[in-house]
Amino acid sequence: MNIHRWVRPEVLAMAGYQPGEQPEAGRSFIKLNTNENPYDPPEAVRQALAEADWHTLRLYPEPSSRPVRTAAAAAYGLQAEQILVGNGSDDLLTILLRTFVAPGATVAVPEPTYSLYHSLCQIQGGSFVGIPWLPEWQLPLASLLASEAALILLARPNAPSGHVVPLPVVAELCRRAPGIVVLDEAYVDFAEDHGLPLLQQHPNLVIIRTFSKSMALAGMRIGLAFASCELIEQMHKVRDSYNVNRLSQQLAVAALHHLQAYQPALQAIRQQRQLLSDALRQRGFQVPDSQANFVLAAVPGNGRSAAEWLSALREAGILVRYFASDPALRHHLRITIGTPEEMAQLIAQIDRLLA
Ligand SMILES: Cc1ncc(COP(=O)(O)O)c(C=O)c1O
Repeated sequence: MNIHRWVRPEVLAMAGYQPGEQPEAGRSFIKLNTNENPYDPPEAVRQALAEADWHTLRLYPEPSSRPVRTAAAAAYGLQAEQILVGNGSDDLLTILLRTFVAPGATVAVPEPTYSLYHSLCQIQGGSFVGIPWLPEWQLPLASLLASEAALILLARPNAPSGHVVPLPVVAELCRRAPGIVVLDEAYVDFAEDHGLPLLQQHPNLVIIRTFSKSMALAGMRIGLAFASCELIEQMHKVRDSYNVNRLSQQLAVAALHHLQAYQPALQAIRQQRQLLSDALRQRGFQVPDSQANFVLAAVPGNGRSAAEWLSALREAGILVRYFASDPALRHHLRITIGTPEEMAQLIAQIDRLLA
């Protein structure tokens, strides 16, 4: 069938985003491939799900997720009008592209980074400029500025490297960029600092966060965007009318009321991150310092290829991530930090494969 005359050329041309494997129910893997939290949410958050009233599910949710915005405003010291809630931060990224990127306008990113940015730019009909990181994962500031992009996207910590661009460099980027700068803080709760203090000084800055990683709610699909009231007002116009469902809103509010209860799990993940980085380095992998809940490991030079490591680990019941389509990541695996038991099994398996 010749579908070409019906489908937009931008869509025909694109490969589409490739999410990491989500195994079928019933197959048990040590799942270290999509940066989920290995721990359940705290009891208080689980309680919110137990108390949910299914009688209300026949009614639409609050359209702008106001209860979530109110709770987030209190938690992060902002006004509710500075906050927009998304169906995951992927939804917020779509909203950002719709709001700020006219057809043909430039979207610039340092690469490698979260590959969904490219897909969303293609869907929007934007012009994508990917600029390689400088050595030691330094930000290619001059080239990003020279692109004169309508939108610059910067993940901090970056995925899949886990490194962070220093905040003064982010501030300089915001100060000198002619367009919008998006700071994607999906992994910021695992990091040493965050960009919220920059919002005051930079009217072109939008920060996005997710409940999928540190808050252990990837299945509920919740994200937050922070910016000036004026920018958020424009972004509301282009979101789906009821973009966040009732249950997700209830759980988001509960999570925001109990941020402190997440601290032990976050601390355990940071500790395992250090232990895993050291263990991998001792075994010949190259691992940049990560401030996220994963590490990027370049495999040892004289053995298996990264693709072979991926399948050998899969065979042993361990899922990690390999980015087959990105030549810059040809030799790398991205490994999510799991529980101490999962990390011990991973290392034991790596030792078996190296032997
Ligand atoms: C950098 C980055 N941003 C955003 C997301 C999307 O998160 P979600 O849509 O689950 O909120 C991810 C998910 O892996 C990510 O790595």
